[in-house]
Amino acid sequence: MKKAEYTQRGPVPQDVIDAVDMTLPPPAAGQVLIEVLAAPINPSDVLTLTGQYGLLPPLPAIGGNEGVGRIVGLGDGVDASWNGRVVLLPVGSGTWRTHLIAESKGLVMLPDGVDVQQLSMLAINPPTALLMLSDFVTLQPGDWVIQNAANSAVGSYLIGIAKARGLRSVNIVRRESAVAAVKAAGAEIVLVDGDKLPKRVAEATGDAAIKLGIDAVGGPATDNLARCLAQGATLVNYGAMSGEPCHISPASFIFRDITLRGFWLSQWFRTATPQRRGEVFGEIGRFIATGQLRAPVQATYPLNQIKQAVAAAAAGERDGKILVLPQQ
Ligand SMILES: NC(=O)c1ccc[n+]([C@@H]2O[C@H](COP(=O)([O-])OP(=O)(O)OC[C@H]3O[C@@H](n4cnc5c(N)ncnc54)[C@H](OP(=O)(O)O)[C@@H]3O)[C@@H](O)[C@H]2O)c1
Repeated sequence: MKKAEYTQRGPVPQDVIDAVDMTLPPPAAGQVLIEVLAAPINPSDVLTLTGQYGLLPPLPAIGGNEGVGRIVGLGDGVDASWNGRVVLLPVGSGTWRTHLIAESKGLVMLPDGVDVQQLSMLAINPPTALLMLSDFVTLQPGDWVIQNAANSAVGSYLIGIAKARGLRSVNIVRRESAVAAVKAAGAEIVLVDGDKLPKRVAEATGDAAIKLGIDAVGGPATDNLARCLAQGATLVNYGAMSGEPCHISPASFIFRDITLRGFWLSQWFRTATPQRRGEVFGEIGRFIATGQLRAPVQATYPLNQIKQAVAAAAAGERDGKILVLPQQ
């Protein structure tokens, strides 16, 4: 058994983490032993290694926040039919490892026969996209939303969910080389950020009134989105890929009454009722099982190449997610 552990944080994320041996006791009553099948490396994981994230686990810690695994051992009192089932790993459990022990109560069972790599990315980015489309502005079919970092995983889920709800999306990327992939993912309008963005968006949408903006970048990119929005619209920031504070012109606030809000899934988890969580994950599970939601995967790495995997995930201009496959 192995785990990808870090005992300190530092500016170069791959320098602080390494794959090391571990042992686990047999699962106690009510617990299960899970073999981890796949776990993604998200930007928040990289920021956790560098110490820049909003929630930092005590050290030493095991990397990874989400993933999927198969139950391979049962503690006393756990139904024998659970053996062999594919489950979602508990969020925040340190998922870059070959095995983990979890309480059986509350585990989310997943359908067999669905791509485990896609399932491993189910817990964080899809609900982020879904909730940003649901919880800030009431949108009706035919309404418009605009997002940047549209080639990110969240971006691709947002395109799929918007489409399924009959919403129209304008998708902004920061480089021409990302346009084709976003179009191939089903996006109707894809533009490169920069000069005269509001004019280009108005031309592409026929001057549509865009009620919701979704910003993962910060810096000047925030204002570029704000200037594309309709009077009274809402702009939601949920990421800081540029590393810069959100720049936004007072003109957007004063003359066009733009509201700037923030979204953090961790906060939603703290306050969402079990019923609401069930609704959100039920909807996402159905989208993924039917292939309506997919995020591109650039490369997979075995656990003993965790340094290379983290370095690849921390690099820009990827073609998709980096996944750790601990059983390889
Ligand atoms: N608030 C929340 O609850 C929450 C939840 C989930 C995710 N997030 C955030 O959502 C964002 C996207 O996550 P993800 O997992 O979907 O990302 P991802 O698939 O790893 O993609 C990263 C995206 O960021 C862009 N990017 C990278 N460096 C950049 C830079 N310096 N300036 C501008 N854009 C840059 C990339 O564009 P290129 O391909 O051109 O490099 C790509 O579009 C991250 O900021 C993440 O932390 C927030």
